Amino acid sequence: MKRILKWIVRIVFVLLIIAFLFVFVAYWRSTNDCGQNTAVSGNSMKAIVYCDYGLANLKLEDVEKPTPTDDQVLVKVRAASVNPYDWHFIEGTPKIMRLMGVGLRKPKDTRLGVDFAGTIEAVGKNVTQFKPGDDVFGGRGGAFAEYVCRRAEGAIALKPASITFEQAASVNIAGITALQAIRDKGKVQPGQKVLINGASGGVGTFAVQIAKSFGADVTGVCSTRNVDLVRSLGADHVIDYTKEDFAKGAERYDVILDNVPNHTLSECRRVLNPKGKYVLIGGGGPNDSRWIGPFGRIIKTMVLSPFINQQMGMMMADANHDDLTILADMMQSGKMKAVIDRTYKLSEVPAAS
Ligand SMILES: NC(=O)c1ccc[n+]([C@@H]2O[C@H](COP(=O)([O-])OP(=O)(O)OC[C@H]3O[C@@H](n4cnc5c(N)ncnc54)[C@H](OP(=O)(O)O)[C@@H]3O)[C@@H](O)[C@H]2O)c1
Repeated sequence: MKRILKWIVRIVFVLLIIAFLFVFVAYWRSTNDCGQNTAVSGNSMKAIVYCDYGLANLKLEDVEKPTPTDDQVLVKVRAASVNPYDWHFIEGTPKIMRLMGVGLRKPKDTRLGVDFAGTIEAVGKNVTQFKPGDDVFGGRGGAFAEYVCRRAEGAIALKPASITFEQAASVNIAGITALQAIRDKGKVQPGQKVLINGASGGVGTFAVQIAKSFGADVTGVCSTRNVDLVRSLGADHVIDYTKEDFAKGAERYDVILDNVPNHTLSECRRVLNPKGKYVLIGGGGPNDSRWIGPFGRIIKTMVLSPFINQQMGMMMADANHDDLTILADMMQSGKMKAVIDRTYKLSEVPAAS
């Protein structure tokens, strides 16, 4: 028995050394296309490029202008928006992301940005949904650039004429997240009490308006400077988190949308009705829990959920054409608007991030 144990320890030790060497070699071999990004003369565009992790490494450079494939459209970007999603790629945090293919030592993909709005300049030969001159909005990696190519069947839709490119560019990640959290995860019904923690941010401002359009009684949680904003978006009640803690209040909610996981799950459960739903959306900023980010909390919700009557779960937004069209209709009809704090030039993306 002792001998078998000794062998097991030896094998585990050797496997650990092999794993360590593997990660070490992979780390130093991790590279990207920096240096090969030379713009083809006469066919270049400006784009934000980063060769190494960190905000200080973002640069506005000349890169090759993309050419659409048969199923793609080429969009001249008129506006793009910045999301916490972009910070995570800029910083390469949580670091577990790097192991999952984002790039161990350097970012594998050197281009940034997702959400855009613009005008279609060219379409591939199989594209029937859009034509040159159409104003569109949606999401596609590398949106911090003058042009972006995206598959016509993906997350792209016609921009309502009544909204600006800046407003449309702010919709894709935040609006889709809010819609899917309320409709698909929260399954919000008219009259239900919905609490939105982090109601003044990108996701929260859309969530307040969408929850109201579903007929919910909405409570938004934000800081003092945003109380009037959240109320103006239609929230029935606003809690200023600098003065009051929603988790210690007497109110009970049917659905909690959590953009800011700054309370423990048991604190959230205390203010959730016995059959209420807790939807985890946010995972904190790029500097919170730099190694595993939101994964610890996600695992806790998954482990807890089968043992209780309340439904605890996380969501991952799935950007798609149909939901973008629903959001476009809501904006066109005035049921929802985008809140824009500040605008920047393309060269100022580092400041905006
Ligand atoms: N799961 C998904 O698919 C998905 C999709 C999109 C986003 N996200 C995540 O969701 C989170 C929110 O995204 P976002 O675009 O809305 O970010 P954001 O625009 O930066 O907004 C964050 C909001 O949180 C609020 N906040 C900060 N501290 C707070 C506190 N102690 N209590 C209540 N609110 C507080 C801020 O309000 P004040 O300014 O008033 O302080 C701010 O408005 C991020 O973690 C993001 O990564 C997840």
